[in-house]
Amino acid sequence: METKVHKVASEDFSLDIDNDMLKATVSYLRKEIDKFKSRPLIVCEVRKLYKDKKKVVIRLPNGNLFFVNILDELMDKIKINDLVMVEQRSLTVVDRLDKPNSDDAEQFINIEKPNIAWNDVGGLRDQIMELKEVIELPLKNPDIFKKVGIKPSKGILLYGPPGSGKTLLAKAVAASTNATFIEVIASELNQKFIGEGAKLVKSIFKLARERSPSIVFIDEIDALASERLDVGTSGEREVERTFIQLLSEIDGFEHLDNVKVIGATNRADVLDQALLRPGRFDRLIEVPLPDEEGIKEIFKIHTRDMNIEKIDFDILLKQMKEMSGAEIRAIATEAGYFAIRENRTKVTMNDFLDAIKKIKEEEEKDHMNMFG
Ligand SMILES: Nc1ncnc2c1ncn2[C@@H]1O[C@H](COP(=O)(O)OP(=O)(O)O)[C@@H](O)[C@H]1O
Ligand SMILES: [Mg+2]
Repeated sequence: METKVHKVASEDFSLDIDNDMLKATVSYLRKEIDKFKSRPLIVCEVRKLYKDKKKVVIRLPNGNLFFVNILDELMDKIKINDLVMVEQRSLTVVDRLDKPNSDDAEQFINIEKPNIAWNDVGGLRDQIMELKEVIELPLKNPDIFKKVGIKPSKGILLYGPPGSGKTLLAKAVAASTNATFIEVIASELNQKFIGEGAKLVKSIFKLARERSPSIVFIDEIDALASERLDVGTSGEREVERTFIQLLSEIDGFEHLDNVKVIGATNRADVLDQALLRPGRFDRLIEVPLPDEEGIKEIFKIHTRDMNIEKIDFDILLKQMKEMSGAEIRAIATEAGYFAIRENRTKVTMNDFLDAIKKIKEEEEKDHMNMFG
């Protein structure tokens, strides 16, 4: 019996030693892990979790996917789409980055002070007039509205086909009022900020107030404000929440505050009527493709710095019918390239004709891709 007790005691003693050694090892390994963490780490996105294998698939900034190890303690703390820090050599996931904070809205939107002048815009005379009245005047001279006793619009909606100059107009009015131009692409709000689109909208308007006078330009607004028959999926509910937040932000400021909202869309027909109610986007401005005069002006604008040999504009004009401002600009650039390829510094009539042909072919290809 006594020898048995003795044996158990000594075993107990040696287990204590083992235990101490293991503890030391753990603390040593912890420090080693800390060292790994202190090296420059790569920020990656989690794409798939394999909890039983204790592995994850990560996406490197260059787009490559890797099946890698992860520290045990992290396995239960991360979700798909989380940002994680990855050790450079082994690509082991060693830490989690906090989700980008929507207070850092600036990282996710384009903020600038554009320098587009009104005479950089070809045609669109009525549209320019209306923008001057509805956006420029109240920002520059709010007193006149107070004296007369009318409320200028808070928001206007530009609608028309792609490349017709909607973004250009919005930038020009921002430049003419020296306003901060905050560009948001509606379809990206929920893509970049899964579950956080509404928060992001809130911080965008906070930013707009801080940097006022400012213009919040919401491109592709139909992505947020389409009439939906039902909001079934969680993605759709999320979009709806973001939309409601946008409406409440617009309702939240005053007509004479120096924040204005400009929406743009190629699909005015699908818009939710809630968006167009008085006090919201209550001015609709159509931005159509240019007429002959417009084409001429746009062509002049985009060729004014070019070194051009005599051209017959009437012939070119006939071939540019139905083209958008963006396409006309592309023609000017392409014509320049045709000259450069042949080592010339003067751009000729033929270069323009070739350029028109090329742009038309590209458009046809796009059309084929879209409609099969
Ligand atoms: N009316 C125009 N006058 C001058 N340039 C134009 C015009 N419309 C389009 N462009 C050119 O095409 C580019 C793209 O147009 P953009 O304003 O982005 O079109 P939209 O926003 O309507 O799709 C502009 O940056 C500009 O260079
Ligand atoms: Mg645009």
